[in-house]
Amino acid sequence: MPLPKAELHLHIEGTLEPELAFELAARNGVELPYADTEELRKAYLFDDLQSFLNLYYSLMRVLRTEDDFAALADAYLTRAAAQGVRHAEIFFDPQAHIARGVPIGTVVEGLWRALSTSEERHGISTRLILCFLRDESAESALLTLEAARPYLDRITGVGLDSAEVGHPPAKFREVYEAAAALGLRRVAHAGEEGPPAYITEALDVLGVERVDHGLRALEDPDLVARLVRDRIPLTLCPLSNVRLRAIDTLEEHPLRAMMDAGLLCTVNSDDPAYFGGYVDDTFHAVREALELDRERLRELARNSFLAAFLEDEEGRRAG
Ligand code: ADE
Ligand code: ZN
Repeated sequence: MPLPKAELHLHIEGTLEPELAFELAARNGVELPYADTEELRKAYLFDDLQSFLNLYYSLMRVLRTEDDFAALADAYLTRAAAQGVRHAEIFFDPQAHIARGVPIGTVVEGLWRALSTSEERHGISTRLILCFLRDESAESALLTLEAARPYLDRITGVGLDSAEVGHPPAKFREVYEAAAALGLRRVAHAGEEGPPAYITEALDVLGVERVDHGLRALEDPDLVARLVRDRIPLTLCPLSNVRLRAIDTLEEHPLRAMMDAGLLCTVNSDDPAYFGGYVDDTFHAVREALELDRERLRELARNSFLAAFLEDEEGRRAG
């Protein structure tokens, strides 16, 4: 039996498995430059974050209708249930869809169809987190938040993802201020490939409550002390870090050292269709590679509920 857990760092577009990609491509008349699912899987060899993002954005072209987004989310939730997930906070990238002519309403309504029945169908409570693409402009982020206004009852928070280096958090000060004024929770990817200073900036300038990745935090002892003191959760994604070559091997992952330093660590799958495993697969992989005992794994599972945007009552039920 997998440990009950919350998944807090999961890009719904990164759950697009090759089989579903081909099915949607056929349904929507989209040409894919791969003969079959085998050939597509062979393209999952990445040098860094950007080389992954190129494929990730390209494959999204198969997602066009509400039905497509509902099918995508339902496929994820079905897999997540089998991995012990009881609560999922799900990122989506509206700008990547709007740029292709797919309105944000199509994306949110489609995802919502799967999410709104998730508790009864899969035993998983859910939240939606709208991510801004940091390699797009600050103006585009503001326009995206504006476009999301009719759907804010379905959206819990905002995040920041895509190519990190050269796109520091401060670029998005204004849109995060606007999001906070609307009552939205705030997270951001920081310290995945970028320096620890980006983590500090995400806390200081964007007011984030949780840091996505934070992999490079240990490079800055003052930052570590602050993260420990303020109980700021980190949503680590060890399989992603290896596949995107942020680290060479899972054995070298700093997760154990980060837990030893007193950081509130969680383990997540990021883009599981691309990185070789869903969240419980990730728990197994780090258990083996870092020789984590049962108590450490329980701590990670417990942390996932502590770090979630759950009301107290929901947290007790889920955990
Ligand atoms: N978008 C999807 N996965 C991502 C990741 N690991 N980092 C930044 N942006 C992403
Ligand atoms: Zn991510």
